[in-house]
Amino acid sequence: MSPLRGSGARDPGGAGAGAGGLPPFPEGWYFVATREALERAKLIEKTWMGRRIVAWRDDAGRVSVAESVCPHLGSALGPAAGGRVRNGRLVCPFHGFEFDASGGCVATPFAPPSKIAKLSSFETREVLGMVFAWWGINGRPPQWRLPEDPPAGADWCEPAFRTLRFRGHPQETSENAVDMAHLRYVHGYDKVRRVGSVTVDGAHLRSSFDFRRVRRIGRIADLTFDVSATAHVVGLGYSLVEFHERSIGMDGRLWVLATPLDGTLIDLVLVSQLRRIRKPKRLIAGLRFLPPALRTETMNRLTLLSQKHDVRQDVEVWSRKRYRRRPALCASDGEIGMYRRYCRQFYPARLRGAGGSPVPSAVRIRHSGSASRTSRGHRG
Ligand code: FES
Ligand SMILES: [Fe+2]
Repeated sequence: MSPLRGSGARDPGGAGAGAGGLPPFPEGWYFVATREALERAKLIEKTWMGRRIVAWRDDAGRVSVAESVCPHLGSALGPAAGGRVRNGRLVCPFHGFEFDASGGCVATPFAPPSKIAKLSSFETREVLGMVFAWWGINGRPPQWRLPEDPPAGADWCEPAFRTLRFRGHPQETSENAVDMAHLRYVHGYDKVRRVGSVTVDGAHLRSSFDFRRVRRIGRIADLTFDVSATAHVVGLGYSLVEFHERSIGMDGRLWVLATPLDGTLIDLVLVSQLRRIRKPKRLIAGLRFLPPALRTETMNRLTLLSQKHDVRQDVEVWSRKRYRRRPALCASDGEIGMYRRYCRQFYPARLRGAGGSPVPSAVRIRHSGSASRTSRGHRG
């Protein structure tokens, strides 16, 4: 993984940027960490949307995300500076002010708590154990919700994660969802076919397509996968691809979570999760003797590896390309123009230009099954 270059909090509406002119921090929900990682580390500090943030959970399980700047005298709050979580409260390393999950100061060592000392916190939301925080234009509150949790439970394997870090922009990476031509040219997919039309409903863009993919997985012989996929782009930090592989009878989902770090680099978190493969329509070479649970876990890891391979092919291009504000499109480019118009809503109005979309009020992808958890917070 590359080191972070530069630092610099930037104005979320600023016109300077990576990717050749795109503002680096479009509005939306962006991945912070998994709940599991938070529980393991107790306190996480990272660069996110051009600033240092800390994330922790209190004893009631509420997750908080805030800028790593103490409102008292400005100390950093992460573990490197000596910040820690005690009894569910974030404790500043400099004078011991304690902050609860709402970001308010609730205790100091030598005086009553300061009423004006409040962390600059971000609204959080959780989807299947993945914690996201809201980045609003000029600090405004969430303009839409992330989708409800898709069905999970015993029928689905544990999600597997991989992170790639590179120079890029979340608008450029999410554009993959409508760029059918590159599926053939870069990734070598066959029989690529758009299914239905791309739809946009506020912050939710939906794109369905079929393709065939032949891959050598590990030492296993070439395997052919016939896939029907639907990509849900919900802002530029959250894409979910639900797919059905027809020859095996395998259902899965893949999240692609792009998060700007410092205005130049992004983290692209890939998350793969398969439904248990109980009765495969065809035998999967090398996996046929495994019990269904292990077979699914193994297949999930292979799927993720394969996805990472494809994304690396994209990264070769993404990390070197320049954003073309007026691309020279051709007939096989499909809905790239439509996608670009969809993206305008995530930037300040002054940057949208004529024909910019109004900001939507909410997004819902209907999934039968469980509900997602929301942690309260505010943008201070
Ligand atoms: S700087 Fe944080 S308590 Fe003083
Ligand atoms: Fe791609």
